[in-house]
Amino acid sequence: MQNNFKRILVTSALPYANGHIHLGHLAGCYVPSDIYTRYQRLQQREVLHICGSDEHGVAITISAEKEKTTPQAIVDKYHKANKESFKKFGIKFDNYSRTSLPIHHETSKEFFLDLLSKGYLKEKEEEQFYDADAKMFLPDRYVEGTCPNCGNDKARGDQCDNCGKYYDQLELKNPKSLITGKTPIVKKTKHWFFTLGKFQKKLEEYTESHSKDWKDNTLQQTRSWLKEGLQDRAVTRDLSWGIPVPIEGVEGKVLYVWFDAVLGYISSTKEWAIQQGKPEKWKEYWCDTSTRYIAFLGKDNIVFHTIVFPAELMAKGGYILPDNVPANEFLNLEGGKFSKSRNNAIYLKDILERYPADTFRYTLATNLPETKDSDFYWKDFQAKNNNELADIYGNFINRTITFVAKNFENKVPKRGKMNDLDREVLVYVQTAPQRIAVFIEQFKFRDATMEMMNVARAANKYFNDSEPWKSFKTNPEQCGTTLNICLNIVRSLAVLFSPVVPFSSDKVFKMLNQNSIVDNEQWMNAGEPQLLDGHQLGQSEILFTKIEDTTIEQELSTLGINAEAKKENESVVSNYAPVKPQITYDDFAKVDLRIAKIIEAEAVPKSKKLIRLQIDLGFEKRQIVAGIAEKLSPEQLIGKTIIVVANLAPAKLMGVESQGMLLATAADGANFALLTSSTNVDSGVGIK
Ligand code: 2FM
Ligand code: ZN
Repeated sequence: MQNNFKRILVTSALPYANGHIHLGHLAGCYVPSDIYTRYQRLQQREVLHICGSDEHGVAITISAEKEKTTPQAIVDKYHKANKESFKKFGIKFDNYSRTSLPIHHETSKEFFLDLLSKGYLKEKEEEQFYDADAKMFLPDRYVEGTCPNCGNDKARGDQCDNCGKYYDQLELKNPKSLITGKTPIVKKTKHWFFTLGKFQKKLEEYTESHSKDWKDNTLQQTRSWLKEGLQDRAVTRDLSWGIPVPIEGVEGKVLYVWFDAVLGYISSTKEWAIQQGKPEKWKEYWCDTSTRYIAFLGKDNIVFHTIVFPAELMAKGGYILPDNVPANEFLNLEGGKFSKSRNNAIYLKDILERYPADTFRYTLATNLPETKDSDFYWKDFQAKNNNELADIYGNFINRTITFVAKNFENKVPKRGKMNDLDREVLVYVQTAPQRIAVFIEQFKFRDATMEMMNVARAANKYFNDSEPWKSFKTNPEQCGTTLNICLNIVRSLAVLFSPVVPFSSDKVFKMLNQNSIVDNEQWMNAGEPQLLDGHQLGQSEILFTKIEDTTIEQELSTLGINAEAKKENESVVSNYAPVKPQITYDDFAKVDLRIAKIIEAEAVPKSKKLIRLQIDLGFEKRQIVAGIAEKLSPEQLIGKTIIVVANLAPAKLMGVESQGMLLATAADGANFALLTSSTNVDSGVGIK
């Protein structure tokens, strides 16, 4: 499908310039869009990533009132801060524009006037809430009340945050003005309405033409709007902040923020084209059907991108429509919702001061709310950093590079005759780009990231199985071949991981003393060995450092986790360990559980806890090390039929290699139990 397109336009939802970017924003939109564009660049496709600040609407004016300043000061402050944070976090936009710029005002006015001239905008009088004391109409968020759909008593004037329903503000029950706290009166005012109904059929066709490639959430929300039947919607507001309605004699009215925000993608592209010295080039992206347009956003923005924006583009004519709208669900925090007011939020600017961007990029990528809401837990963040980035990916790079520095004068050793292990791992790595590409093309970034880590796991296993520390003495040529392959895998990993952890990939390239930067690589060749024999390497450095428990405790203590979630967490912790973040069946299915028989057991010298077991898996025998010496003696273990995780990456415990893990309860004392099979089952049989 990709190859039918000449170029790809990627847009990321324009965040309101009224607050700092937090983890919820990143997981909802910007981490996926950045992984996607970085990957597409490595595929050598022409791709443009567009974003900017959404600087209009009542979200801004309310923030200005709260911070006792002007809307202009608010947008200036947050535009600068957010642009900088995105950059430091490695979110690479080709342009990060602002909807307050003249180029955007002009573009929006042009759309408005064109739609007006074609009869798609109708002037009508409508009833609206009016605050008689403040002497003003109350657009959108200036009024709060009870949601007509779900009963939430903190529903906004145009949309309920609880159930996601959009409605006419007059449907709101028990309305209150947010300016004076009084009950508003209903008064007539003149507005321009977009005749969305005229696009009902075309939008239905458009939506159904994507019934196979759009995600469920995108399809369902769009279909549900269409099913209700599209009504005329007001696209102007009684406000002074925004794009003035471009009709002579009209005062105090501006374009509705959603009418202009989506057009911000076009004006940001125009600004980019001017910067390139090719002012007409934006048209290649917006007006040429050989461009594929992907719009990334969070679930609360779906219908504006699958109904309102496409209708605006259809009405204007000559524009392409979003080909895909990969919307993410929400990211929650420690079991509660992100909330600025309850200090239950983690801001990008703050974490960038304390942690490397890549650790967050990886943690979020493995936990994106792709099909349903997901949770960010600090403990999970620590585990991902320590057990995956540091212990698997970082460890493989470090052990390879230090081995070569110590034993091969820091040069790539010669690759000689290869054995089965060598050939197997090379094939596995050579085919990895394709495996990961399939996931990314389907917007499955979690799976793609896990597959990247699987390559690092396989690399560690190869290192262990090849035992270069032994072959260095017994068969130096073979040892050279092993390390040559390991170094080439280090290079492959740097390219494959680069869409997710770009800063670390750059460091790896420096360690390998590679001239070209990772961005110049070819994705599909990433698995090929490319280092020349004898190539001099650079200086090694530690890629990921471990995060201590005390650091995580500190983070948790400063977080204002919402009181209920905190209480619940605490009561659970007192009796049982908290339930870990939810996984899908696919996650579970990755764990290969097998029946095995213990054939030998002996205590590990100088260890109170560890026992070394030789187990029979039917198809092979293996050594595993288990921390159960205080519970069971070697004699009690021999002959037992146990359950083991057969595909766990090998690890060393007190210098003894363990190639798997047995299952036992996590509890001590009377609750300790080794999981065994009660009937006679053959070794090697899998468990579902
Ligand atoms: O929800 C938001 O933060 C909006 N500012 C998103 C706008 S997306 C697009 F229309 F620009
Ligand atoms: Zn509701």
